[in-house]
Amino acid sequence: MTILVTGGAGFIGSNFVLDWLKTSDEPVVNLDALTYAGNLENLASLQHDPRHVFVKGDICDRALIDQLLATHQPRALVHFAAESHVDRSIHGPGAFMRTNIEGTFTLLEAARGYWSALPAEAKAAFRFHHVSTDEVYGSLKPSDPPFAESNPYEPNSPYSASKAASDHLVRAWHHTYGLPVVTTNCSNNYGPYHFPEKLIPLMIVNALAGKPLPVYGDGQQIRDWLYVTDHCAGIRAVLAGGRLGETYNIGGWNEKANIDIVKTVCALLDELRPDPAGPYSRLITYVTDRPGHDRRYAIDARKIERELGWRPAETFDTGIRKTVQWYLANADWVSQVQSGAYRDWVAKQYD
Ligand code: NAD
Ligand code: TYD
Repeated sequence: MTILVTGGAGFIGSNFVLDWLKTSDEPVVNLDALTYAGNLENLASLQHDPRHVFVKGDICDRALIDQLLATHQPRALVHFAAESHVDRSIHGPGAFMRTNIEGTFTLLEAARGYWSALPAEAKAAFRFHHVSTDEVYGSLKPSDPPFAESNPYEPNSPYSASKAASDHLVRAWHHTYGLPVVTTNCSNNYGPYHFPEKLIPLMIVNALAGKPLPVYGDGQQIRDWLYVTDHCAGIRAVLAGGRLGETYNIGGWNEKANIDIVKTVCALLDELRPDPAGPYSRLITYVTDRPGHDRRYAIDARKIERELGWRPAETFDTGIRKTVQWYLANADWVSQVQSGAYRDWVAKQYD
């Protein structure tokens, strides 16, 4: 048996592939276009591992996907590939519409063709697992309960709108064609291999470089942070036992204001890599807010716990310490991803 993963060279996808092959011998075919966010360095430990087959390619390429499905006969497709950064979606939404909507449509159509021709037993066992985000639900007020699976969709950014569209396509392919799908909507992840355009890794690498730590607006926006390997375990649980056509919210029960996250990162760096120039918090700089910035996300993760017994293994304290330690121990990875394209982005967003 084999699974086909898309976007497995990105942050969560590479953590998922590494974890998968730690816990199982089932091979992984990994389709990734290696955009600026995809990085084969994340998978360097699998270079000579025959259980991992990497294919560089685009999820919008129907002929390629048909060929991969026919050749490898996967029992499941786990779909991570996406444009994932809200700020980039504000500067240039086109790539988000193409990859997140057209790409998901292309995968669904290819999977439908493949699945409908499978023999009965393989057909019943096949799964299309769509990996999505809590951002599709929009923004919560301080007193609102956390997002449940029944919350209406109210996406506010081009990124979240494109992910919401992809969720709707996945739902429709189940209801109309019977494609055996499951969808997970997860809160903000953090951990190893996180591209340093996102809040936590950006703060770590900027602090270590003595650069300003840009906090948008008043820094009181709230996210519900989950250590990435807990997300991967949640996906494995839903893939194995999730009910067809259902969505499962995954979150860490860990709401924190951005400014508190930044202060925590600074305090850990003060402890682990003190700077003779003074505490890292001196670098905190409030900057212009993100347009349309969602104020608060929070996940009600009771359904996945009740039905599948999943709960996060890491607390925020253990997860953020591991994360900061990982970035301190992997300075080479950081300098490798800080390529020319990365520098262009930083100049565009923060100058
Ligand atoms: P990422 O940006 O780090 O990685 C995305 C990967 O997809 C990259 O390897 C990239 O090369 C690949 N890719 C992009 N366009 C492609 C295309 N057209 N064809 C093939 N591959 C392509 O993203 P991530 O943070 O790892 O997120 C993975 C998935 O999880 C996304 O679907 C995202 O919406 C979802 N998600 C992310 C978070 C989070 O906090 N990062 C939270 C919830 C859900
Ligand atoms: P981000 O990591 O981009 O994830 P998302 O927008 O998908 O939640 O941002 C997390 C929060 O941190 C979000 O409220 C925006 C904020 N933020 C900053 O304050 N400064 C920054 O430089 C970045 C990248 C994000």
